Amino acid sequence: MKLAIPKERRANEARVAATPDTVKRLKGLGLEVVVEAGAGEGASIPDRAFADAGAAIAPDAKTALADADIVFKVARPLTAAEGGPDELALLKPGAILVAMLDPYRNKDLVAALAEKGVAAFAMELAPRITRAQSMDVLSSQANLAGYKAVLDAAAEFGRAFPMMMTAAGTIAPAKVMIMGVGVAGLQAIATARRLGAVVSATDVRPATKEQVESLGGTFIAVEDEEFKQAQTAGGYAKEMSDEYKKKQAALTAETIKKQDIVITTALIPGRPAPRLISEEMVATMKPGSVIVDLAVEAGGNCALSEPGKVVVKHGVKIVGHLNVPGRLAVDASALYARNLFNFVGLLIDKKEGAIRIDAEDEIIKGTLLTRDGRIVHPAFAPSAAPSGAGGA
Ligand code: NAI
Repeated sequence: MKLAIPKERRANEARVAATPDTVKRLKGLGLEVVVEAGAGEGASIPDRAFADAGAAIAPDAKTALADADIVFKVARPLTAAEGGPDELALLKPGAILVAMLDPYRNKDLVAALAEKGVAAFAMELAPRITRAQSMDVLSSQANLAGYKAVLDAAAEFGRAFPMMMTAAGTIAPAKVMIMGVGVAGLQAIATARRLGAVVSATDVRPATKEQVESLGGTFIAVEDEEFKQAQTAGGYAKEMSDEYKKKQAALTAETIKKQDIVITTALIPGRPAPRLISEEMVATMKPGSVIVDLAVEAGGNCALSEPGKVVVKHGVKIVGHLNVPGRLAVDASALYARNLFNFVGLLIDKKEGAIRIDAEDEIIKGTLLTRDGRIVHPAFAPSAAPSGAGGA
């Protein structure tokens, strides 16, 4: 059985779906591993390191993918419709593709994967259950994004984070607010605290209150009846009612003008990111304040953030970097590669040394989008109702 790791070709994608460490482990599963030349470049992994770990190096994607039974990727394959090299066309029918396929925002790709006859697994749909923790790509990547967001904010901020008492005067600590306390938000709180900031945080899920406080932050939220019900069975946030949004906006307006840094991480699976910061709110912030919008790819938590740009509006710097985990490509690749190695173990019958997809396995059911020419995931099957929040 051959497993291929092509070079990622999307803009801003420096990560790679395997490391020399996981190549060794994959070989231990009895797989033949092929890595496209240059695949590890963005993550500082030379071809030689992959070769030393036992991978064959293919000169191009076509050669790497031609007869691959399993393909590991970071981002979804490019298609002819996107005008670049058609990576989808290079997969062999029947191949297994494991990647972050972003299916809610790419329904055409889901259809194209089915048509191609690929068995496609969208890793971001893995259920948040204990057994899947080691395969949880959302967590491994969001954790790094939360950390990097604070560093990006610090780099754009014209002041220091910690309180400093010097002979020339005292510097007040920076006030940092984190909006959305999932995996990224929690890491952002911890990182901002480590840098010496005074941190507050908000979320709509009640479970986050204790988490914020245990990290030394102050929890600020509209804690009404709706708040008590805001978490789905899958652990995600629901889209809140208009009434709640109004109350939340009033509280945010009151709080945000006192902040130096705001880091937003709020997401609702399968929906656009909630709009938490309006232009009017930005205008009330102090000049030189910084907003980092980690939700910019999902439409943005801030009305003024622009994907891929750092803009200055009303004297406030608004940071909208794309693919923030990819800005820490070495660590992000290492963790992602381990997630995929842990996942592929589910697909391989170790006794027979063959691929076996157990459609009844909860993790497989949650992630398998297409198989044998059909869309098999209930949230994306043609008969499915418009997709709701994942994990609901
Ligand atoms: P996410 O990336 O989907 O969302 C980020 C945060 O934004 C969430 O905390 C969410 O509640 C918040 N949010 C959404 N709408 C909001 C709004 N209008 N205002 C303020 N905040 C809003 O979340 P993530 O990081 O993927 O975590 C989701 C859940 O999964 C959490 O409960 C987390 O603890 C859980 N989890 C469980 C794991 C497990 O294996 N058991 C592993 C990792 C996460």
